[in-house]
Amino acid sequence: MKKIAVIPGDGIGIDVTDEALKILRTVKETGLDIHWDVFDYGAEKYLATGVTLPDEEVENFRDNYDAIFIGAVGDPRVPDMKHGKDILLGLRFKLDLFVNFRPVKLLDEKLCPLKNKTLADIDFVVFRENTEGLYAGTGGILKQGTPDEVAIQTSINTRKGVERIIRYAFEYAKAHGRNRVTMSDKSNAMRFEGDLWQRTFYEVGEEYPEIEKQHWYIDALLMQMVKRPEQFEVIVTCNMFGDIVTDVGAQLSGGMGLAGSGNIHPGRTSLFEPVHGSAPKYHRKDVANPLAAILTVGMMLEYIGFPQWNARIENAVIQAVKTNNVPRDLGGELGTKAMGNWIVSKLV
Ligand SMILES: NC(=O)c1ccc[n+]([C@@H]2O[C@H](COP(=O)([O-])OP(=O)(O)OC[C@H]3O[C@@H](n4cnc5c(N)ncnc54)[C@H](O)[C@@H]3O)[C@@H](O)[C@H]2O)c1
Repeated sequence: MKKIAVIPGDGIGIDVTDEALKILRTVKETGLDIHWDVFDYGAEKYLATGVTLPDEEVENFRDNYDAIFIGAVGDPRVPDMKHGKDILLGLRFKLDLFVNFRPVKLLDEKLCPLKNKTLADIDFVVFRENTEGLYAGTGGILKQGTPDEVAIQTSINTRKGVERIIRYAFEYAKAHGRNRVTMSDKSNAMRFEGDLWQRTFYEVGEEYPEIEKQHWYIDALLMQMVKRPEQFEVIVTCNMFGDIVTDVGAQLSGGMGLAGSGNIHPGRTSLFEPVHGSAPKYHRKDVANPLAAILTVGMMLEYIGFPQWNARIENAVIQAVKTNNVPRDLGGELGTKAMGNWIVSKLV
């Protein structure tokens, strides 16, 4: 049996998780051997008890679950996002989820903001290093609040960290029939980390002679994503550049309402979440788009061994977009619940 820990979180995270659970229920009813438990970590719990996400729970997830699903976290009553950081970054770091995986796939031409792009033109995946770089949290502030204040944020790049994300990108390409891996950095301006990324990319790349290696500096990569996105199959990059690249990628393929993501450590308990936040103003208004969460469920099911369900869920979402049975943010009229029900009706 495959086990999933579900954390709805805050705001519309709760609304979209309700719909994600409808999908899991539907899938389970077809005989799939899955089980899930729902955990109430989030702002409400933190404000009432001071608990964010205890270490024992992280160990419980690691030892007893195959995957974790999170709706979204973030609440205006917790302006410093203390609970959100503990939950999201805590899981990323403590479970060593070094792969941030975001597919960029256009599901319908009318969703693309670029002119004359076909479905085949926008179909690539981005692998963002998820545990190092400028987001590792190293640095400090000196003479704070004085005219001489100094702020230092250091970019951490280890050979191990760079190598494992690059290798994962090549392995993914090989397993999924992708012929080109593109690495992006800023090695012309940031020579030390750039040198490590460059050497590692071409050294690891030698093990995959059948796969073409491509390199763009990050500024050029973003221009190319808008100009000629059809050249991309697999992109691998560092934590901060990946953060930016994937948001542009989400817009190329229909926006936040359709963007799902995986935080993965291959072979271990991994975390899946829609890319969007908790949009608190929409909570319980029945307007949040649950499709990103639903597509994320598909990615999670693929990760735990049921790829056929990812394909079925994605097809149902494609049909929804094609027939304009979509929520407001995608130009339709369906509420959150009706959207979930519509997808369920296509899966049974
Ligand atoms: N991974 C996460 O849990 C995550 C990610 C980003 C932001 N946040 C948190 O979420 C809170 C709100 O942040 P924000 O406003 O910057 O980003 P957000 O993604 O929550 O919302 C930005 C805007 O995008 C639209 N939107 C986003 N998701 C939508 C959906 N599913 N359906 C319909 N419209 C949608 C809404 O117009 C919303 O106002 C903050 O507390 C922030 O820290 C959490």
